[in-house]
Amino acid sequence: MPMSSSLRLGVNIDHVATLRNARGGKHPDPVRAALEAIAAGADGITAHLREDRRHIRDADMERLKAEISKPLNFEMAATPDMVRIALGVQPHAVCLVPERREELTTEGGLDVVGQRESLEPTIARFTDAGVRVSLFIAADPKQIEMAAKLKAPVIEIHTGAWCDAITDGELIKAENEWQRIAAGVKLAKSAGLEVHAGHGLDYATAETIAALPEIMELNIGYYMIGESLFVGLSETVKQMRAAMDRGVAKRARA
Ligand code: PXP
Repeated sequence: MPMSSSLRLGVNIDHVATLRNARGGKHPDPVRAALEAIAAGADGITAHLREDRRHIRDADMERLKAEISKPLNFEMAATPDMVRIALGVQPHAVCLVPERREELTTEGGLDVVGQRESLEPTIARFTDAGVRVSLFIAADPKQIEMAAKLKAPVIEIHTGAWCDAITDGELIKAENEWQRIAAGVKLAKSAGLEVHAGHGLDYATAETIAALPEIMELNIGYYMIGESLFVGLSETVKQMRAAMDRGVAKRARA
C-alpha cells in the first residue's frame, strides 16, 4: 500500500496574516503558524504575496525563507515587480497565479495559452535561478498542454470550482468538474508534468482527491486556518494528514 509520504501537504498560512493585519500588530505571527504546521507534519509552507499585500507581506516571506526547515512555495502573480522580489527571496518554488485586485481569492486558473509569450521567459528565469515553477491552471487540456510546452516542471490544478459545487449542493456540476480534474491530471502526468492540486479543499475533498495517483502535493489554507480556531493548528494538520492518508490508501484499490 502506498505510504502517506507519497502525497505532500503544503499548508498555506496566508490567513494567519489576514488576522494579524486586522489589528495592525504582530500577532498572530504567520511564521509561528508555519513552524507549528511543520512540527505537526506539513511537508511545506505556501504563502501568497499579493500585489495589495492584504495578508502576507514582504518581510513575512523573508522570515519564512530564513526560519522554516521545509520548502517554501511562494505564490505570486507573474509581474516584473513580483518576479524581482521572488528572485531575491529564493524560495524552493514559485506558483504563478492570476491576480486581480478586487477578487476575494484567486478565482480562476492562469491563462497560460493567452499569456504564453510573457510566461516563457519568466519560467526560464526562475528555472535558471534554481527555483521550481508551478503554474496554477484549470484542468483544461489546452492549458495543460501549453504548460508542458512552456517547460514548466509542475502544474497545480485549481480545485475551486469542484469544491464550490459540492458546497452549493450542485451535484451535476460537481461530477462534471470532478471528471475534468480526473482526466486533466492523467493528461498532465502523461505530458511529463508533476501534478499538484489546491483551492477550497477541506477534509472530505482532500480525501477524495488524494485517491488520484497522479497527484503529488495538495496546497490547503483557508479551511485549515478556520478549523484551527476550534481544535488548534497541530490537530488540524494531523486530521488533514489522516484524511489524505485515507485517500491515498484508496489508490491501491483503484
Ligand atoms: N493553491 C493556490 C495556487 C492558491 O492560490 C490558493 C489560495 O491562496 C490555495 C492553493 C489554497 O486555497 P485555500 O486557501 O482555499 O485552501
